Amino acid sequence: MKYYLTTPIYYVNAAPHIGHAYTTIAADALKRFKQMQGRRAVLTTGSDEHGINVERAAERMGQAPGEFVAVIAKEFKEQWEKLGLGVDRFMRTSDPRHHKLVAELFERCKKNGYVYKGSYTGQYCIHDNLYVNEAKPGDPCPECGRPTETVTEENYFFKLSAFQDRLLRLYEEQPEFIQPDARRNEVIAFVKQGLNDLSITRTNIKWGIPVPGEEKHVFYVWFDALMTYMSAVAGEDLWPADLHLIGKEIVRFHAIYWPAFLMAAEWPLPKRVFAHGWLLFQEDKMSKSKGNIVRATPIQEVMGVDALRYFLLREIVFGQDGNFSYDALVGRYNSDLANGLGNFTSRTLSMIGQYRGGKAPGGAAGVNPEIEQAAAKTIESFMSSWERFDFSRALEAVWAFISMLDKFIVEQAPWNIVKNKDAESQARLDAALYTAAEALRIVTALLAPAMPQSAEKIWALLGMKTPLGEVRLDRLRWGQLEPGQQVHRPQPVFPRIDAQPAIEKMRELEARETARQAALLGKSAPPAAAAPAGDKIGVEEFAKVDLRVGEVRSAERVKGADKLLHLKVDIGEAQPRTIVAGIAEAYAPEQLIGRRVVIVANLQPRKLRGIESNGMIVAAVAEGGKPVLVGFHEETLVGSKLR
Ligand code: MSP
Repeated sequence: MKYYLTTPIYYVNAAPHIGHAYTTIAADALKRFKQMQGRRAVLTTGSDEHGINVERAAERMGQAPGEFVAVIAKEFKEQWEKLGLGVDRFMRTSDPRHHKLVAELFERCKKNGYVYKGSYTGQYCIHDNLYVNEAKPGDPCPECGRPTETVTEENYFFKLSAFQDRLLRLYEEQPEFIQPDARRNEVIAFVKQGLNDLSITRTNIKWGIPVPGEEKHVFYVWFDALMTYMSAVAGEDLWPADLHLIGKEIVRFHAIYWPAFLMAAEWPLPKRVFAHGWLLFQEDKMSKSKGNIVRATPIQEVMGVDALRYFLLREIVFGQDGNFSYDALVGRYNSDLANGLGNFTSRTLSMIGQYRGGKAPGGAAGVNPEIEQAAAKTIESFMSSWERFDFSRALEAVWAFISMLDKFIVEQAPWNIVKNKDAESQARLDAALYTAAEALRIVTALLAPAMPQSAEKIWALLGMKTPLGEVRLDRLRWGQLEPGQQVHRPQPVFPRIDAQPAIEKMRELEARETARQAALLGKSAPPAAAAPAGDKIGVEEFAKVDLRVGEVRSAERVKGADKLLHLKVDIGEAQPRTIVAGIAEAYAPEQLIGRRVVIVANLQPRKLRGIESNGMIVAAVAEGGKPVLVGFHEETLVGSKLR
């Protein structure tokens, strides 16, 4: 039976980092797990190459969009190959096979009466590719706080409003359609508020898939991008997808728009969408513009890819946000892999080598029943946790078993038993060695989806004849180790790592990688154009803007808005100002308390998500990047004016 899973297709305006790798590694591990249950698992990823952001980025670099996107798409593809991830299909939105299917989606929606032509004048956020209904010219985007642009367009609309009931029924009837539950609840609440029709074509850009029969129109990026999940496997028997694995910020597109498009086209719906949390670095979501990015390859080079895979899957509860740090990475490696699994492996192999000439003793006679039961329980809890996407708990179960085995060996002390040559002692020794080897076989098979390379190594050291890839996890039982099997001398699978030099090396490689990627993205970039004279303003005009030094007194997230923070900022007035700022992706609330910032104090008040914002926080915003707050190097007084 097939199992078709996907990752998001990644935007090409940034080069790959471990945020992207996180999703793709999890997908690869899931794929391997399904394969080891006998499923024909296929994994799709790809690159999202259209849209105004890309068009503008290419223009800035003096490149044709097609030329610009090809470089980064290749970078992603090579990244997955380098990390050894089992990507079966890599679909680019610029691929003509994909274009054909997007056009077909459109035609089918139209034929079924879910597409109509309308005219739209309104505010548009180019960063989020979002039309902001009810916004006035100059209003900020409710998602990111950046200024919106006014656009008037003749557009095709998709009748999303017609799908409210059907979507709610879908979530009700298939509670696993969107997971975890927190995300499901958010989606249900959102849909219950009512859905607006969605503009699905654009006339203000050229870089996109042309709408059939409409020269000026190209498709809206999400109408285009989601379709890669189908176009990547067109003509195969893989659709509907069994799983779309995504990050939590794109739940709405996958759990609302996508099933509605498919319902309109009368195509089968995917079975499940699972949204994981964010990988944070230095307490922030990793972001290109903040520079708090870590790449996967330097870690791979210094510690091996399995160290990274293990860390990501074990350290972070899948579905929740989690921190990445080099210290924690090396710490986990040394304690769980070098000491835990690595030690147990080499101990087992060297005892069998020393006491039994490398032949694993046969038969399960005399095996400690507690260990046998614990093995069965470990298999069971590993499998059920993994099926729930709880990789962390699944791996934890394996390590609990490993520490039980460590204790067992110490208690048995084969190095003492071996001294007694009587038959009973020798049988006890056989049983202890068999138990250790058989337990190691089970542990190795269970770890194969998470750490394929290391599992292969241990499997080979154990002298297993069945290829690891052919082992069926759903049939894994105690007692399947062949008697008399020749095992090999231990070789270090996880050599201990000296933290400081390793971290320094990774940082050094990271800096090199940053420079390489920057060159790639900035290749042949023309010098920034000077502002045309007409854009200049007199000093009196600048003086109209009341800029003041403020100090953040409190900060909290705005419910239901991933990008907004609700701040109280002291700017030397009787009461701190309430300010709603689109900086939640770049800053954690607690990081901001006590921080000196710059505030525009004389802006018209504006309501964002029901909160009246009285001012704006000043930040540098690189194109396509995250805001970086303006600050001071010397002492400043709260309330001082900026001139
Ligand atoms: N192109 C869209 C997706 C279209 S899918 C039809 C997009 N691209 S993206 O490049 O921004 O990638 C977003 C995805 O990358 C997230 O949903 C997540 O899977 C992964 N991540 C990127 N940064 C991440 C973190 N810092 N942490 C966790 N996942 C991250 O959105």
